[in-house]
Amino acid sequence: MSNCLLEVKDLVTAFTTSKGPLRAVDGVSFQVNSGELIGVVGESGSGKSLTSLSIMGLVPYPGKVVSGEIFFEGQDLLKLEEAEMVKIRGKNIAMIFQDSRVSLDPVCRCGEQIVEAIRTHEKATREEARERALELIGLVGIPNPARCVNAYPHELSGGMCQRIMIAIALSCRPKLLIADEPTTALDVTVQAQILELLDKLRHDFDMSVILITHNLGVVAGVADRIAVMYAGQIMELGDIGEILNHPMHPYTQGLIKSIPKLEVSSKRLYSISGTVPALDKMPSGCRFEQRCPEAMALCATVLPEMCVLSDGQYVCCHKYDTWRSAYE
Ligand SMILES: Nc1ncnc2c1ncn2[C@@H]1O[C@H](COP(=O)(O)OP(=O)(O)O)[C@@H](O)[C@H]1O
Ligand SMILES: [Mg+2]
Repeated sequence: MSNCLLEVKDLVTAFTTSKGPLRAVDGVSFQVNSGELIGVVGESGSGKSLTSLSIMGLVPYPGKVVSGEIFFEGQDLLKLEEAEMVKIRGKNIAMIFQDSRVSLDPVCRCGEQIVEAIRTHEKATREEARERALELIGLVGIPNPARCVNAYPHELSGGMCQRIMIAIALSCRPKLLIADEPTTALDVTVQAQILELLDKLRHDFDMSVILITHNLGVVAGVADRIAVMYAGQIMELGDIGEILNHPMHPYTQGLIKSIPKLEVSSKRLYSISGTVPALDKMPSGCRFEQRCPEAMALCATVLPEMCVLSDGQYVCCHKYDTWRSAYE
């Protein structure tokens, strides 16, 4: 696609252990178009964070990207030297995490942290950077920016700290923002405000966003497309409306059933029984087989291939084996 900003192709990221390499991300492919917000959804331990750390070139030791390609504006990030990657990180691609209080420096005033971020990436005088910081604080919806500039992180609420982190991420005008569980530590009302903010900023700044969450409900209202991840692989990928209305993978169907709905609040909430398999206990067949209500004999032994259901809609499940393979 012509407006493709990022293309991840067959990414494999593994940890070296005494049992051999354990693949935490195993053959992940997706693309992010300019200006779009793509959600990456899946339970804890699905490999969502490692996928984003692989894009950033920040996979922690003893983890390593083993194979695949990550094209950003046509350039394979995996082929870059660390010095070149440093320039891209924070300049073209920025990342925010779940717990902004941990990421912020507790002994440095918020305004100063934004000023530092600006001056790391561009030649600006302290005065110019201060002006920009004040402007950014306003843009991320913090009331009374002048007061916030002088506040220490502990003086602000969790939601306000997350807004500061977003301001820092925006300070270099990134083309891509990766937000890894940015609202998980926040209460529901603040969560909604931060999501609304991310959605607004991607339009204002004309940037793409990868929004990672374990909660499908979080991305339902803001994402254009989603990738549903399970045990290191993408199970379903496509338009959000299409997936919410017609989920094809049994895992996606389970996730949708688990979203709390107001009208059934008296009933016990559905949850998919079982847990994501551990890295050293990955089944040889479909990774979801043990928890799948529709598993067939084939599922236990043969890994399903990604199939194309329609333009842009993909699913990885033996139920759809008669459809065209995505790799043809
Ligand atoms: N530093 C590490 N060492 C060993 N295994 C790890 C490490 N970090 C993550 N993993 C494993 O990789 C898998 C994917 O982790 P992660 O990407 O953090 O999942 P998610 O973000 O979806 O919760 C998990 O099984 C996790 O236990
Ligand atoms: Mg994570």
